[in-house]
Amino acid sequence: MKTILVCVGARPNLMKASSLFRAAALFPNLRLELLHTGQHYSTEMDKVFFDQLQIPNPDYQLNVGSSSHAVQTADVMKKFEPILLNKSIDMVVVIGDINSTVACALVAQKMGVSVAHVEAGLRSFDMKMPEEINRRVVDHISDYLFTTEASGNENLVREGIEPQKIFFVGNTMIDTLIHHLDQIRSLRALEMLRLKPDSYSVLTLHRPSNVDDVQGLKSLLGLIVKNIPDGQKVVFPAHPRTKKMLEGISTDLLQRFMLIEPQPYFSFMSLVYHSSFVLTDSGGIQEETTYLKKPCFTLRANTERPVTTQIGSNFLIDKNLNLISEKLKTFNGDKSQIPELWDGKAGFRILEHISRIV
Ligand code: UD1
Repeated sequence: MKTILVCVGARPNLMKASSLFRAAALFPNLRLELLHTGQHYSTEMDKVFFDQLQIPNPDYQLNVGSSSHAVQTADVMKKFEPILLNKSIDMVVVIGDINSTVACALVAQKMGVSVAHVEAGLRSFDMKMPEEINRRVVDHISDYLFTTEASGNENLVREGIEPQKIFFVGNTMIDTLIHHLDQIRSLRALEMLRLKPDSYSVLTLHRPSNVDDVQGLKSLLGLIVKNIPDGQKVVFPAHPRTKKMLEGISTDLLQRFMLIEPQPYFSFMSLVYHSSFVLTDSGGIQEETTYLKKPCFTLRANTERPVTTQIGSNFLIDKNLNLISEKLKTFNGDKSQIPELWDGKAGFRILEHISRIV
């Protein structure tokens, strides 16, 4: 029996870890343990996802909480090291591109424990994004790289990583979406908000480049109000980082949005499922909307998930919100495609590879 330690820290890691823990039932030779760094800790950003996605309670809790990048990364490293020293772990699995991902990968690799990176190879080519720095570091110190789309393999090979370390497996976030799709479809979260299907859009914003400057955030919200089709409501579940900044914005402007708390997984995905379109700067939501063939307007200048714009339903519009109505007019969901291997089995493929490797 080999022990695999899966490390999570923040909300988007949880949907992906959930897929691995579901698949683990099919691999009796592997014992999956869970480490939670505590980078996210609020009930609505964390616990509710454990409950809904039936993720087991963490075997190890680091409780690092929020702080600057350096302090947060260092806190994870300091608290993770003694765990690896005292336990016999055969492989550490890190997920995504958050500070906890890079911190756990660094500690494990320096202690001679092999590291596998789930969601490897994505590149925005924008080093101003903290996540881009994390991705590059993690990929170059990992032993095994599990990719979600072909661009990931291309980026890694171009950067000199040996092809035999790279496995194209599909998307664990989409595994979880597929697994829960019936529940998501039938849950009428929109009725709680007195909304009708296709009468509203969903907005999420949390990138520092969009929300950390109050003037920039104000101008972006103003552009959204100006460019959404007449009669459309904008449901805006505000991330805690964004919520803090909204305090500096006039209520006149905010009244144009249906501002709600960060939503649990099922109600958020149900709101997305029944919406007419999505506005976001998230990475994962670009993928989820692509799977659902829902128009998604990404409020960023770049995406590390190019397959979603090349064959999916994602439009990279940055601040050009005037493009929304034109794109909506010509959008045809039947022409948008679901990327290769986004079939609900990525978690299984990852564990299949791991069980051969360890
Ligand atoms: C982090 C990740 C980002 C990911 C996002 C998903 C990094 C560098 N960033 O960004 O890649 O897309 O998570 O949400 O790792 N807060 C709470 N409750 C919580 C967590 C945070 O109130 O449970 C507040 C704190 O005030 C904190 C702020 O949100 O200062 C930002 O949290 P942090 O984890 O630093 O970064 P995110 O913006 O969430």
